[in-house]
Amino acid sequence: MRMVDLIEKKRDGEPLSKQEIHFIIQGYVQGDIPDYQMSSWAMAVYFQGMSIEETAELTSTMAKSGEQLDLSTLGGRFVDKHSTGGVGDKTTLLLGPMVAACGVPVAKMSGRGLGHTGGTIDKLSSIPGFRVELSQEEFLEQVKKIGIAVIAQTGNLVPADKKLYALRDVTGTVSSIPLIASSVMSKKIAAGAQGIVLDVKYGSGAFMKTIEDARRLATTMVDIGKALGRQTIAVLSNMNEPLGRAVGNSLEILEVADALQGKGPDDLIKVCLELGAWMLVAGDSVPDVDTGKKCLLQSLESGAAWDKFLNFIAAQGGDDQAVVDRRLQVAPWSLPILAADSGYVQSIDAHKIGILAMTLGAGRVTKDSPIDLGTGVLLVKKTGEWIEAGEPLLQLYGRDKESLAEGLLLAQDLVPIGSETPEQLPLIEEVIQ
Ligand code: URA
Repeated sequence: MRMVDLIEKKRDGEPLSKQEIHFIIQGYVQGDIPDYQMSSWAMAVYFQGMSIEETAELTSTMAKSGEQLDLSTLGGRFVDKHSTGGVGDKTTLLLGPMVAACGVPVAKMSGRGLGHTGGTIDKLSSIPGFRVELSQEEFLEQVKKIGIAVIAQTGNLVPADKKLYALRDVTGTVSSIPLIASSVMSKKIAAGAQGIVLDVKYGSGAFMKTIEDARRLATTMVDIGKALGRQTIAVLSNMNEPLGRAVGNSLEILEVADALQGKGPDDLIKVCLELGAWMLVAGDSVPDVDTGKKCLLQSLESGAAWDKFLNFIAAQGGDDQAVVDRRLQVAPWSLPILAADSGYVQSIDAHKIGILAMTLGAGRVTKDSPIDLGTGVLLVKKTGEWIEAGEPLLQLYGRDKESLAEGLLLAQDLVPIGSETPEQLPLIEEVIQ
Protein backbone atom coordinates (compact mmCIF):
# COMPACT_ATOMS: atom_id res chain seq x y z
CA MET A 1 0.00 0.00 0.00
CA ARG A 2 1.19 3.55 -0.72
CA MET A 3 -0.02 6.61 1.19
CA VAL A 4 -0.18 8.68 -2.00
CA ASP A 5 -2.78 6.28 -3.48
CA LEU A 6 -4.92 6.56 -0.33
CA ILE A 7 -4.72 10.37 -0.42
CA GLU A 8 -5.88 10.31 -4.05
CA LYS A 9 -8.65 7.85 -3.26
CA LYS A 10 -10.05 10.09 -0.52
CA ARG A 11 -9.50 13.21 -2.64
CA ASP A 12 -11.72 11.61 -5.31
CA GLY A 13 -14.45 10.84 -2.77
CA GLU A 14 -14.00 7.08 -2.55
CA PRO A 15 -14.40 5.27 0.77
CA LEU A 16 -11.35 3.77 2.46
CA SER A 17 -11.31 0.15 3.64
CA LYS A 18 -10.51 -0.98 7.19
CA GLN A 19 -7.04 -2.10 6.11
CA GLU A 20 -6.36 1.25 4.47
CA ILE A 21 -7.42 3.16 7.61
CA HIS A 22 -5.17 0.92 9.77
CA PHE A 23 -2.30 1.51 7.36
CA ILE A 24 -2.70 5.30 7.63
CA ILE A 25 -3.00 5.50 11.44
CA GLN A 26 -0.32 2.93 12.23
CA GLY A 27 2.03 4.42 9.64
CA TYR A 28 1.53 7.90 11.04
CA VAL A 29 2.02 6.92 14.69
CA GLN A 30 5.16 4.93 13.83
CA GLY A 31 6.59 7.82 11.87
CA ASP A 32 6.53 6.01 8.48
CA ILE A 33 4.01 8.49 7.04
CA PRO A 34 5.32 12.09 7.09
CA ASP A 35 3.33 15.12 8.25
CA TYR A 36 2.99 16.51 4.71
CA GLN A 37 1.17 13.38 3.50
CA MET A 38 -0.98 13.16 6.61
CA SER A 39 -2.03 16.81 6.32
CA SER A 40 -2.91 16.30 2.66
CA TRP A 41 -5.05 13.29 3.66
CA ALA A 42 -6.72 15.29 6.48
CA MET A 43 -7.58 18.03 3.95
CA ALA A 44 -9.07 15.41 1.60
CA VAL A 45 -11.22 14.15 4.53
CA TYR A 46 -12.16 17.75 5.32
CA PHE A 47 -13.61 18.22 1.83
CA GLN A 48 -14.91 14.72 1.04
CA GLY A 49 -16.03 13.59 4.52
CA MET A 50 -16.19 9.97 5.69
CA SER A 51 -19.00 7.46 6.02
CA ILE A 52 -20.00 6.29 9.51
CA GLU A 53 -18.29 2.94 8.80
CA GLU A 54 -15.03 4.71 7.93
CA THR A 55 -15.32 7.11 10.91
CA ALA A 56 -16.02 4.23 13.32
CA GLU A 57 -13.01 2.33 11.99
CA LEU A 58 -10.84 5.43 12.31
CA THR A 59 -12.08 5.88 15.91
CA SER A 60 -11.40 2.31 16.94
CA THR A 61 -7.96 2.26 15.28
CA MET A 62 -6.98 5.51 17.03
CA ALA A 63 -8.34 4.23 20.38
CA LYS A 64 -6.02 1.21 20.06
CA SER A 65 -2.96 3.29 19.15
CA GLY A 66 -1.73 3.51 22.77
CA GLU A 67 -2.58 2.47 26.30
CA GLN A 68 -6.21 1.54 27.05
CA LEU A 69 -7.77 1.55 30.51
CA ASP A 70 -9.53 -1.52 31.79
CA LEU A 71 -12.18 -0.36 34.23
CA SER A 72 -13.88 -3.73 34.60
CA THR A 73 -12.51 -3.98 38.15
CA LEU A 74 -14.83 -1.10 39.12
CA GLY A 75 -17.81 -3.42 38.63
CA GLY A 76 -20.95 -2.51 36.69
CA ARG A 77 -21.05 -0.42 33.55
CA PHE A 78 -18.59 2.43 33.45
CA VAL A 79 -20.04 5.67 32.03
CA ASP A 80 -17.98 8.65 30.92
CA LYS A 81 -19.10 12.19 30.13
CA HIS A 82 -17.59 14.64 27.68
CA SER A 83 -18.28 18.28 26.90
CA THR A 84 -17.27 19.80 23.58
CA GLY A 85 -16.18 22.84 25.60
CA GLY A 86 -17.61 26.16 26.60
CA VAL A 87 -17.27 29.21 28.82
CA GLY A 88 -18.03 28.81 32.54
CA ASP A 89 -18.61 25.10 31.91
CA LYS A 90 -18.06 23.55 35.34
CA THR A 91 -20.57 20.71 34.83
CA THR A 92 -18.08 17.86 35.49
CA LEU A 93 -17.24 19.28 38.91
CA LEU A 94 -20.88 19.57 39.91
CA LEU A 95 -22.39 16.48 38.34
CA GLY A 96 -19.42 14.22 39.22
CA PRO A 97 -20.17 14.25 42.98
CA MET A 98 -23.95 14.16 42.31
CA VAL A 99 -23.66 11.07 40.07
CA ALA A 100 -21.21 9.39 42.45
CA ALA A 101 -23.59 10.09 45.36
CA CYS A 102 -26.28 8.25 43.34
CA GLY A 103 -24.06 5.17 43.13
CA VAL A 104 -22.54 5.36 39.62
CA PRO A 105 -18.72 5.56 39.69
CA VAL A 106 -17.06 8.59 38.09
CA ALA A 107 -13.50 7.88 36.85
CA LYS A 108 -12.73 10.84 34.67
CA MET A 109 -9.79 12.09 32.69
CA SER A 110 -10.12 15.75 31.84
CA GLY A 111 -8.19 18.39 29.96
CA ARG A 112 -6.72 21.83 30.50
CA GLY A 113 -8.30 24.89 28.94
CA LEU A 114 -7.19 26.48 25.68
CA GLY A 115 -8.24 29.80 24.14
CA HIS A 116 -11.56 31.15 25.36
CA THR A 117 -12.70 27.81 26.84
CA GLY A 118 -11.79 26.62 30.33
CA GLY A 119 -10.60 23.17 31.39
CA THR A 120 -11.63 21.08 34.40
CA ILE A 121 -8.02 20.34 35.35
CA ASP A 122 -7.16 24.06 35.67
CA LYS A 123 -10.24 24.59 37.84
CA LEU A 124 -9.22 21.75 40.16
CA SER A 125 -5.65 23.09 40.28
CA SER A 126 -6.96 26.20 42.01
CA ILE A 127 -7.63 24.10 45.15
CA PRO A 128 -4.45 24.17 47.31
CA GLY A 129 -2.66 20.80 47.30
CA PHE A 130 -5.00 19.12 44.79
CA ARG A 131 -3.13 16.46 42.76
CA VAL A 132 -4.33 16.27 39.16
CA GLU A 133 -1.88 13.47 38.41
CA LEU A 134 -2.38 10.06 40.02
CA SER A 135 -0.91 6.70 39.02
CA GLN A 136 -3.38 4.34 37.37
CA GLU A 137 -3.46 2.24 40.59
CA GLU A 138 -4.18 5.31 42.76
CA PHE A 139 -6.84 6.47 40.31
CA LEU A 140 -8.71 3.15 40.34
CA GLU A 141 -8.26 2.65 44.09
CA GLN A 142 -9.81 6.05 44.79
CA VAL A 143 -12.80 5.35 42.53
CA LYS A 144 -13.34 2.02 44.31
CA LYS A 145 -13.08 3.67 47.72
CA ILE A 146 -15.12 6.87 47.31
CA GLY A 147 -16.73 6.53 43.86
CA ILE A 148 -15.00 9.46 42.16
CA ALA A 149 -11.59 10.56 40.83
CA VAL A 150 -10.77 13.21 38.22
CA ILE A 151 -7.25 13.41 36.77
CA ALA A 152 -5.38 14.97 33.86
CA GLN A 153 -5.21 12.84 30.74
CA THR A 154 -2.23 10.47 30.87
CA GLY A 155 0.57 10.82 28.34
CA ASN A 156 0.11 7.58 26.43
CA LEU A 157 -3.63 7.47 25.84
CA VAL A 158 -4.47 7.73 22.10
CA PRO A 159 -1.09 8.97 20.78
CA ALA A 160 -2.60 8.93 17.26
CA ASP A 161 -5.01 11.68 18.26
CA LYS A 162 -2.33 13.71 19.99
CA LYS A 163 -0.19 13.72 16.85
CA LEU A 164 -3.04 14.18 14.38
CA TYR A 165 -4.75 16.91 16.42
CA ALA A 166 -1.52 18.95 16.60
CA LEU A 167 -1.21 18.62 12.82
CA ARG A 168 -4.86 19.56 12.20
CA ASP A 169 -4.43 22.60 14.41
CA VAL A 170 -1.87 24.10 12.02
CA THR A 171 -3.25 22.87 8.68
CA GLY A 172 -6.82 24.22 8.75
CA THR A 173 -8.37 20.78 9.26
CA VAL A 174 -9.75 20.96 12.80
CA SER A 175 -13.37 21.68 11.91
CA SER A 176 -14.12 18.44 10.06
CA ILE A 177 -16.95 16.48 11.65
CA PRO A 178 -15.49 12.96 11.10
CA LEU A 179 -12.11 14.11 12.43
CA ILE A 180 -13.59 15.82 15.52
CA ALA A 181 -15.96 12.91 16.22
CA SER A 182 -13.22 10.27 15.94
CA SER A 183 -10.86 12.38 18.06
CA VAL A 184 -13.38 12.74 20.91
CA MET A 185 -14.77 9.21 20.78
CA SER A 186 -11.36 7.49 20.53
CA LYS A 187 -10.33 9.12 23.83
CA LYS A 188 -13.52 8.05 25.60
CA ILE A 189 -13.19 4.48 24.31
CA ALA A 190 -9.51 4.22 25.26
CA ALA A 191 -10.45 5.52 28.73
CA GLY A 192 -12.64 2.43 29.15
CA ALA A 193 -16.14 3.89 28.71
CA GLN A 194 -18.99 1.46 28.09
CA GLY A 195 -21.54 4.27 28.16
CA ILE A 196 -20.81 7.79 26.93
CA VAL A 197 -22.83 10.95 27.63
CA LEU A 198 -21.87 13.85 25.40
CA ASP A 199 -22.64 17.49 26.10
CA VAL A 200 -22.50 18.94 22.59
CA LYS A 201 -22.62 22.69 22.89
CA TYR A 202 -23.65 25.17 20.21
CA GLY A 203 -23.57 28.96 20.09
CA SER A 204 -21.06 31.79 20.23
CA GLY A 205 -18.91 30.29 23.01
CA ALA A 206 -18.90 26.77 21.55
CA PHE A 207 -16.85 25.00 18.95
CA MET A 208 -19.99 24.51 16.85
CA LYS A 209 -21.58 27.89 16.24
CA THR A 210 -24.92 26.64 14.87
CA ILE A 211 -27.40 24.10 16.14
CA GLU A 212 -27.29 22.36 12.75
CA ASP A 213 -23.52 21.75 12.97
CA ALA A 214 -23.83 20.64 16.60
CA ARG A 215 -26.59 18.19 15.59
CA ARG A 216 -24.43 16.77 12.79
CA LEU A 217 -21.49 16.29 15.15
CA ALA A 218 -23.71 14.77 17.87
CA THR A 219 -25.38 12.36 15.43
CA THR A 220 -22.00 11.25 14.06
CA MET A 221 -20.67 10.55 17.57
CA VAL A 222 -23.83 8.66 18.57
CA ASP A 223 -23.59 6.58 15.38
CA ILE A 224 -19.90 5.81 16.04
CA GLY A 225 -20.83 4.73 19.59
CA LYS A 226 -23.53 2.42 18.19
CA ALA A 227 -21.16 0.95 15.60
CA LEU A 228 -18.59 0.22 18.31
CA GLY A 229 -21.08 -1.19 20.84
CA ARG A 230 -20.98 1.74 23.29
CA GLN A 231 -24.27 3.26 24.40
CA THR A 232 -23.90 6.93 23.48
CA ILE A 233 -26.28 9.77 24.31
CA ALA A 234 -25.76 13.35 23.15
CA VAL A 235 -27.41 16.36 24.80
CA LEU A 236 -27.39 19.53 22.66
CA SER A 237 -27.02 22.52 24.98
CA ASN A 238 -26.91 26.26 24.44
CA MET A 239 -23.55 28.04 24.85
CA ASN A 240 -24.51 31.50 23.62
CA GLU A 241 -24.17 32.74 27.21
CA PRO A 242 -21.67 31.40 29.80
CA LEU A 243 -23.02 28.68 32.08
CA GLY A 244 -23.61 30.03 35.58
CA ARG A 245 -22.20 33.36 36.74
CA ALA A 246 -18.51 32.55 37.28
CA VAL A 247 -15.85 32.34 34.55
CA GLY A 248 -12.32 31.68 35.80
CA ASN A 249 -10.77 28.85 37.73
CA SER A 250 -11.10 29.52 41.48
CA LEU A 251 -14.26 31.59 40.86
CA GLU A 252 -15.82 28.51 39.26
CA ILE A 253 -14.81 26.20 42.12
CA LEU A 254 -16.59 28.58 44.53
CA GLU A 255 -19.67 28.55 42.31
CA VAL A 256 -19.64 24.73 42.31
CA ALA A 257 -19.40 24.78 46.12
CA ASP A 258 -22.44 27.09 46.26
CA ALA A 259 -24.38 24.92 43.80
CA LEU A 260 -23.64 21.78 45.82
CA GLN A 261 -25.07 23.56 48.87
CA GLY A 262 -28.35 24.34 47.10
CA LYS A 263 -27.57 27.90 45.99
CA GLY A 264 -28.01 27.52 42.22
CA PRO A 265 -27.44 28.93 39.61
CA ASP A 266 -30.47 27.53 37.79
CA ASP A 267 -28.93 27.10 34.31
CA LEU A 268 -25.96 25.14 35.65
CA ILE A 269 -28.19 22.92 37.80
CA LYS A 270 -30.53 22.27 34.86
CA VAL A 271 -27.72 21.13 32.52
CA CYS A 272 -26.19 18.97 35.29
CA LEU A 273 -29.52 17.29 36.05
CA GLU A 274 -30.01 16.43 32.36
CA LEU A 275 -26.47 15.12 31.76
CA GLY A 276 -26.25 13.42 35.16
CA ALA A 277 -29.61 11.68 34.72
CA TRP A 278 -28.46 10.23 31.39
CA MET A 279 -25.28 9.03 33.08
CA LEU A 280 -27.39 7.20 35.66
CA VAL A 281 -29.55 5.69 32.89
CA ALA A 282 -26.48 4.59 30.90
CA GLY A 283 -24.95 3.18 34.11
CA ASP A 284 -28.09 1.01 34.59
CA SER A 285 -28.68 2.60 37.98
CA VAL A 286 -32.14 4.06 37.22
CA PRO A 287 -34.86 3.02 34.73
CA ASP A 288 -35.45 6.48 33.22
CA VAL A 289 -34.28 10.10 33.14
CA ASP A 290 -37.00 11.39 35.49
CA THR A 291 -36.01 8.92 38.20
CA GLY A 292 -32.38 9.91 37.59
CA LYS A 293 -33.17 13.60 38.06
CA LYS A 294 -35.01 12.85 41.33
CA CYS A 295 -31.99 10.94 42.66
CA LEU A 296 -29.62 13.76 41.69
CA LEU A 297 -31.85 16.43 43.28
CA GLN A 298 -32.02 14.31 46.42
CA SER A 299 -28.18 14.16 46.46
CA LEU A 300 -28.14 17.98 46.52
CA GLU A 301 -30.91 18.39 49.09
CA SER A 302 -29.51 15.80 51.49
CA GLY A 303 -25.98 17.22 51.33
CA ALA A 304 -24.66 13.87 50.02
CA ALA A 305 -23.20 15.43 46.85
CA TRP A 306 -21.47 18.22 48.83
CA ASP A 307 -19.97 15.64 51.22
CA LYS A 308 -18.83 13.60 48.20
CA PHE A 309 -17.16 16.68 46.67
CA LEU A 310 -15.24 17.38 49.90
CA ASN A 311 -14.20 13.69 50.18
CA PHE A 312 -13.03 13.76 46.59
CA ILE A 313 -10.91 16.90 47.16
CA ALA A 314 -9.34 15.46 50.32
CA ALA A 315 -8.69 12.07 48.65
CA GLN A 316 -6.68 13.83 45.92
CA GLY A 317 -4.61 15.76 48.47
CA GLY A 318 -6.59 19.00 48.22
CA ASP A 319 -7.43 21.29 51.14
CA ASP A 320 -11.18 20.71 51.46
CA GLN A 321 -11.43 23.17 54.36
CA ALA A 322 -10.05 25.93 52.09
CA VAL A 323 -13.05 25.33 49.80
CA VAL A 324 -15.47 25.33 52.75
CA ASP A 325 -13.94 28.59 54.05
CA ARG A 326 -13.66 30.07 50.52
CA ARG A 327 -9.92 30.59 50.95
CA LEU A 328 -8.91 30.12 47.29
CA GLN A 329 -6.62 32.39 45.30
CA VAL A 330 -8.15 35.77 44.52
CA ALA A 331 -6.74 38.05 41.84
CA PRO A 332 -4.99 41.15 43.20
CA TRP A 333 -6.90 43.55 40.96
CA SER A 334 -10.69 43.79 40.80
CA LEU A 335 -13.08 46.24 39.21
CA PRO A 336 -16.86 46.38 38.62
CA ILE A 337 -18.34 47.28 35.23
CA LEU A 338 -21.40 49.41 35.88
CA ALA A 339 -24.57 49.56 33.79
CA ALA A 340 -24.90 52.80 31.82
CA ASP A 341 -28.73 52.48 31.62
CA SER A 342 -31.56 50.80 33.48
CA GLY A 343 -33.26 47.90 31.68
CA TYR A 344 -33.18 44.19 30.93
CA VAL A 345 -29.90 42.48 30.06
CA GLN A 346 -30.39 41.48 26.41
CA SER A 347 -27.54 38.98 25.94
CA ILE A 348 -24.08 38.11 27.27
CA ASP A 349 -21.90 36.80 24.48
CA ALA A 350 -20.09 33.69 25.75
CA HIS A 351 -17.21 34.03 23.27
CA LYS A 352 -16.56 37.66 24.24
CA ILE A 353 -16.67 36.80 27.96
CA GLY A 354 -14.25 33.91 27.31
CA ILE A 355 -11.83 36.26 25.56
CA LEU A 356 -12.23 38.80 28.39
CA ALA A 357 -11.47 36.15 31.05
CA MET A 358 -8.45 34.99 29.03
CA THR A 359 -7.18 38.58 28.79
CA LEU A 360 -7.52 38.99 32.56
CA GLY A 361 -5.28 35.93 33.04
CA ALA A 362 -7.74 33.00 33.36
CA GLY A 363 -7.07 31.30 30.01
CA ARG A 364 -4.23 30.24 27.75
CA VAL A 365 -3.51 32.00 24.47
CA THR A 366 -1.26 29.08 23.43
CA LYS A 367 -1.03 25.70 25.10
CA ASP A 368 2.06 26.67 27.10
CA SER A 369 0.94 30.13 28.31
CA PRO A 370 0.78 30.62 32.08
CA ILE A 371 -2.58 31.22 33.74
CA ASP A 372 -3.54 32.95 36.98
CA LEU A 373 -6.04 30.84 38.84
CA GLY A 374 -7.71 33.66 40.79
CA THR A 375 -8.59 35.77 37.74
CA GLY A 376 -11.77 35.89 35.67
CA VAL A 377 -15.20 37.46 35.36
CA LEU A 378 -18.33 37.29 37.51
CA LEU A 379 -21.59 37.91 35.69
CA VAL A 380 -23.44 39.87 38.37
CA LYS A 381 -26.50 39.97 36.08
CA LYS A 382 -27.51 37.43 33.43
CA THR A 383 -29.67 37.64 30.33
CA GLY A 384 -33.27 38.61 31.09
CA GLU A 385 -32.48 40.14 34.49
CA TRP A 386 -33.32 43.77 35.34
CA ILE A 387 -30.52 46.20 36.21
CA GLU A 388 -30.58 49.81 37.39
CA ALA A 389 -28.18 52.33 35.87
CA GLY A 390 -25.00 52.48 37.98
CA GLU A 391 -25.37 48.93 39.37
CA PRO A 392 -22.56 46.41 38.72
CA LEU A 393 -23.11 44.30 35.64
CA LEU A 394 -19.80 42.41 35.61
CA GLN A 395 -16.96 42.13 38.11
CA LEU A 396 -13.48 41.74 36.60
CA TYR A 397 -10.57 40.03 38.41
CA GLY A 398 -7.20 40.72 36.74
CA ARG A 399 -3.64 39.46 37.22
CA ASP A 400 -2.18 43.00 37.05
CA LYS A 401 -3.07 46.60 36.25
CA GLU A 402 -2.27 46.17 32.54
CA SER A 403 -4.54 43.17 32.01
CA LEU A 404 -7.31 44.87 33.99
CA ALA A 405 -7.02 47.96 31.78
CA GLU A 406 -7.17 45.76 28.66
CA GLY A 407 -10.16 43.91 30.13
CA LEU A 408 -11.88 47.19 30.86
CA LEU A 409 -11.72 48.11 27.18
CA LEU A 410 -13.11 44.72 26.10
CA ALA A 411 -15.90 44.93 28.69
CA GLN A 412 -17.18 48.32 27.45
CA ASP A 413 -20.54 47.82 25.69
CA LEU A 414 -20.11 44.05 25.91
CA VAL A 415 -23.54 43.62 27.53
CA PRO A 416 -26.47 45.33 25.75
CA ILE A 417 -29.34 46.59 27.92
CA GLY A 418 -32.86 47.25 26.56
CA SER A 419 -36.37 48.05 27.72
CA GLU A 420 -37.92 44.76 26.51
CA THR A 421 -37.35 41.32 28.03
CA PRO A 422 -35.23 39.44 25.48
CA GLU A 423 -36.34 36.25 23.78
CA GLN A 424 -34.22 33.37 25.05
CA LEU A 425 -33.35 30.11 23.31
CA PRO A 426 -33.89 26.91 25.30
CA LEU A 427 -30.94 25.80 27.40
CA ILE A 428 -31.34 22.18 26.32
CA GLU A 429 -32.31 21.84 22.70
CA GLU A 430 -32.61 18.07 22.23
CA VAL A 431 -31.26 14.67 23.18
CA ILE A 432 -29.95 12.34 20.47
CA GLN A 433 -29.48 8.64 21.18
N1 URA B 1 -11.82 18.34 20.81
C1 URA B 1 -11.20 17.16 20.59
O1 URA B 1 -10.92 16.40 21.52
N2 URA B 1 -10.88 16.85 19.32
C2 URA B 1 -11.18 17.63 18.27
O2 URA B 1 -10.88 17.28 17.15
C3 URA B 1 -11.82 18.86 18.51
C4 URA B 1 -12.14 19.18 19.81
